[in-house]
Amino acid sequence: MSTPILPYGRQSISEDDIAAVTAVLRSDFLTQGPEVERFEASLREACGAKHAIAYSHGTAALFGACWAAGVGPGDEVVTSAITFAASANCAAYLGALPVFADVRPDTCGVDVASLERAITPKTKVLIPVDFTGQPADLAQVHALAKKHGLLVIEDAAHSLGALYQGEPVGCGRYADMTMLSFHPVKHITTGEGGAVLTNDDNLAHRLRLFRNHGIEREESRFVTQPSPGPWYHEMQELGHNFRLTDLQAALGRSQMTRLPAFVARRRAIAALYDKLLADLPRVRPLAQLQDRLSSYHLYAVQIDLAAAGKDRAQVMHELRQAGVGSQVHYIPVYRHPFHQRNLAAAGRPHRPEQFPNAEAYYAGALSLPMYPALTDQDVVKVVDALRQVVGIG
Ligand SMILES: Cc1ncc(COP(=O)(O)O)c(C=O)c1O
Repeated sequence: MSTPILPYGRQSISEDDIAAVTAVLRSDFLTQGPEVERFEASLREACGAKHAIAYSHGTAALFGACWAAGVGPGDEVVTSAITFAASANCAAYLGALPVFADVRPDTCGVDVASLERAITPKTKVLIPVDFTGQPADLAQVHALAKKHGLLVIEDAAHSLGALYQGEPVGCGRYADMTMLSFHPVKHITTGEGGAVLTNDDNLAHRLRLFRNHGIEREESRFVTQPSPGPWYHEMQELGHNFRLTDLQAALGRSQMTRLPAFVARRRAIAALYDKLLADLPRVRPLAQLQDRLSSYHLYAVQIDLAAAGKDRAQVMHELRQAGVGSQVHYIPVYRHPFHQRNLAAAGRPHRPEQFPNAEAYYAGALSLPMYPALTDQDVVKVVDALRQVVGIG
């Protein structure tokens, strides 16, 4: 009999979630309708933002945020070297060049000095990433952006429910726009889905246009005046269909009622890992800074592979045999063949030696199981398996 594997992440779906989605199936709206508005209201309330604009995917939300910021050909956008590729791809979709900054060695959040060195006269936007759920150095990134006349799009795909200097991620104190993802391994899910939060009315308007083909329906904003009649609408920009459906939004709104409980459980799991791993010097968790509180999308550790005498593939294989799934977050984005080609073609090749902290992090990175339904016994099982596989040193 094969051992069931603990995945590194998974969704938590309740009977209330199922009832919420089923109710929409019996209603008049399947695609974007009243449930999307209610879901957006729950996001605004939880994050303290003036506007929340739901999107079909987090990736589409980042794309929309870059478009709303006016990113286009000839521009550059700087993001962290250690992130999911979508944090950079959003700029490439618009013909701009994504470039990368190194990370801090302790938290793996973007290194602000490296970020500043990556800024050129072509830079338009900075995209800090709240890696694993711990907010980036948002105040410093914001100060840098203001100094250079840039916008900040915070990639908060990992950090819904996190706090920075006592305020919720998404409140907009240090970001012009904040992007969320609702992929199943995230804090709440809509299957696929995302959103952008902003306090800026003009950006919010542009974000709404972009997700719906660039179509304007508000008469006072029509180019043609007076409006020819009640049927009339204008496609004023080249947008997309990036709408979230009411089916998804109902799931999201139901999940939002449990966000505090989900985040509390993730923090309790992290605290237990921290305690148990204190006896395993070959397994080192990321540092947690005093002025911010992670919502732990991931629990990422550094494995001392040299001391363990094994390569990472072997460690992952042996953990799996012990019933423990794991994953690597992330391959430094500049290493991907698309970005290598793209950066070289722009005359900005990125070599691994230029990113010592990202390379060092990547070499030993492993994400351990982290999701609300993980039990304390599961955490003990993961740490026991690690003790067996990498040794106690
Ligand atoms: C840091 C980061 N940014 C962006 C995304 C894209 O979000 P989505 O999968 O909802 O398109 C993800 C998804 O995993 C992510 O981890």
